[in-house]
Amino acid sequence: MQIVRTSEELTRARADLGAGTLALVPTMGALHAGHLALVEEAKRRADRVAATIFVNPLQFGANEDLDRYPRRDEQDSAMLGEGGCDLLWMPSIEDIYPQGFATTVHVAGVSERWEGEVRPGHFDGVATVVARLLLSVRPDVALFGEKDFQQLAVIRRMAEDLAIGVEIAAVPTVRDSDGLALSSRNAYLSEDERRRAVALPEALEAAKRAVRAGEPVASALQRATQSLVDAGFLRIDYFALVDAHSLEPVDAPDGEMRLIAAAVIGTTRLIDNIAV
Ligand code: PAJ
Repeated sequence: MQIVRTSEELTRARADLGAGTLALVPTMGALHAGHLALVEEAKRRADRVAATIFVNPLQFGANEDLDRYPRRDEQDSAMLGEGGCDLLWMPSIEDIYPQGFATTVHVAGVSERWEGEVRPGHFDGVATVVARLLLSVRPDVALFGEKDFQQLAVIRRMAEDLAIGVEIAAVPTVRDSDGLALSSRNAYLSEDERRRAVALPEALEAAKRAVRAGEPVASALQRATQSLVDAGFLRIDYFALVDAHSLEPVDAPDGEMRLIAAAVIGTTRLIDNIAV
């Protein structure tokens, strides 16, 4: 696996990959089996696989965890190499946002509720950096996890609206044996918080069963929220049943739906979602 840093190095390395198809896996590092599932799917979909590690300051709010976001470049590059990546781009902040950088990509509609409401500007940062990465690497396909379900919807909209010419592919959420979705942020959890965090996927599963059994949506969501409070979650940002495409709330079950949730345990904010 070749590791490059500057845009110039990337351009050369990209050309060296040859004429076959290329898949891209963008990440912020602190890699786990969820990221590696994206690499696995990337290998199935293209001749060559590139990954990026870039902790994007633009998508972190002023009071968020940019400063403490885990950084493990050496371990990460070893994992990607062993996972079968051909090229790793680890740009600096100046490579991505050189002096004078002044463009923001804002995706209206699908970015506005949920994460967009709790984390103002977050999806502008995501859309801007992903557009930048896709246009620099020019892959045939780019892979994103369903773990960040709204992010996936925002990126699909952006890629289509700007005719970026890259297929956006989704990969199902990889979970720990107890059901907690793998996340770089799980590293913040104490042992006790980690044990209690499983209440989040359990609440999603319980709400899914209730909705499928015909229980009114409002009462299913209310019970799920209460179970998170009981498990010691300090703040529940949202726990909602939404249309899987528009991400608009659904009052009565209809079509393709998703249960989405975000809640804080200790000082760690966790998000998760499941299909209904
Ligand atoms: P990061 O959180 O590092 O995630 C990189 C990719 O891995 C995302 O597409 C995310 O959805 C996926 N992923 C994370 N946990 C997963 C899991 N348990 N199962 C499956 N996929 C999982 O998401 C970002 O970085 C950034 O916002 C980024 C898109 C790189 C833009 O900066």
